[in-house]
Amino acid sequence: MPDEESTSAFAARLARAINPGLVIYLHGDLGAGKTTLVRALLTELGYRGRVKSPTYTLLEQYEVAGKQFRHFDLYRFRDATEWEAAGFNDEFNCQNICLLEWPEKAAGLIPPADLEINFEILPDGRNITLYAQSDTGTACLNSLQK
Ligand SMILES: Nc1ncnc2c1ncn2[C@@H]1O[C@H](COP(=O)(O)OP(=O)(O)OP(=O)(O)O)[C@@H](O)[C@H]1O
Ligand SMILES: [Mg+2]
Repeated sequence: MPDEESTSAFAARLARAINPGLVIYLHGDLGAGKTTLVRALLTELGYRGRVKSPTYTLLEQYEVAGKQFRHFDLYRFRDATEWEAAGFNDEFNCQNICLLEWPEKAAGLIPPADLEINFEILPDGRNITLYAQSDTGTACLNSLQK
């Protein structure tokens, strides 16, 4: 992905391939492009509002194109008891599409991923690699490749 435009083009394809209930982990260093991809995904689906990074809120939610999205950024997540208290468990259901930045910060609390996306910073853009981790993740990757 040489620039944000190609990230958007990828997001448009991904938008058509994801289904309710999917759990997507987004891995990559600070500034690697995780939030940019979520923003592009929601925008491609027709969301017109602002997509902010959930750095402080930990979770932002969106309804767009008849789908429910939950965007987590767990970089600042510290306390495991907070997970229960915030009701985060309930967000992982068959309706919500959950996208998580920094899932490793809440390892053991989050349900396993269906899809993992790795962002790598290159001198001239970003390398994005996708890994399917379940049958629904594989179905998503297959429909992306069509
Ligand atoms: N394909 C791309 N090529 C070059 N630059 C990009 C590309 N995609 C995103 N960027 C730029 O890289 C930066 C990525 O920032 P972003 O907030 O998305 O990172 P992040 O992975 O969410 O970081 P954090 O872990 O801090 O939340 C933005 O400045 C964006 O413009
Ligand atoms: Mg981010």
